[in-house]
Amino acid sequence: MENSLRETPVQAQLRAAMDGHPEGEMQTSPEQVQLLALLLKTMNARRVIEVGVFTGYSAMGMAMALPDDGVLVACDLSPDHMAVAQSWWDRAGVSERIEPRIGPAIESLEAMLADGQGGTYDFMYFDADKEAFLEYYELGLKLLRPGGLLTFDNMLKGGRVADPSVTDSSTEATRALAKKLLGDDRVEYSLNPIGDGLALAMLKDQVPA
Ligand SMILES: C[S@@+](CC[C@H](N)C(=O)[O-])C[C@H]1O[C@@H](n2cnc3c(N)ncnc32)[C@H](O)[C@@H]1O
Repeated sequence: MENSLRETPVQAQLRAAMDGHPEGEMQTSPEQVQLLALLLKTMNARRVIEVGVFTGYSAMGMAMALPDDGVLVACDLSPDHMAVAQSWWDRAGVSERIEPRIGPAIESLEAMLADGQGGTYDFMYFDADKEAFLEYYELGLKLLRPGGLLTFDNMLKGGRVADPSVTDSSTEATRALAKKLLGDDRVEYSLNPIGDGLALAMLKDQVPA
């Protein structure tokens, strides 16, 4: 990390603030956020959705990679998490680029579609309830523009996806998404062992018949 991480002081402070926090493990790893930010820049991304905000570390890093007129729609169930995240985004000077949506993310994504936002997003990062991953995937494909990227965290679940004795609903749902992604002709696909496993799925320009 000493030889690869580029964090601003506020990013480092937010990471340090989660050290010892009972749910601190939920925070996305810094090298992964740095990769997400780099991907956003290579794509000239302007419109991003995050599902799973917690205290705002990954959203902060992604919002910093957007242009001034960029927008990151930040979805989380918990008003408490969102309030903490917003205070950190204020400190980082990125609040203007972040649009918080509190509630079950499926409802938030469906509302965006109903609002005519289908096909308008460049990038999405899913880091919430794994049981909903397949639904997030299908809704995400509808919201994404061709060439846009869907990204999913915790695809390896600390190795548990490869242990057949582990059959909890979250692990089974992660396996189901991995299988879906592998066989889905609508996307280009890559599974990366960074952090806890990051899946990248790019919506093809032309979906095969
Ligand atoms: C792993 S944490 C996100 C970590 C965050 N990306 C970061 O870097 O700090 C997962 C978050 O998803 C939220 N969440 C869980 N189920 C959800 C749902 N159905 N809809 C929206 N958010 C949900 C939780 O409140 C929690 O804040």
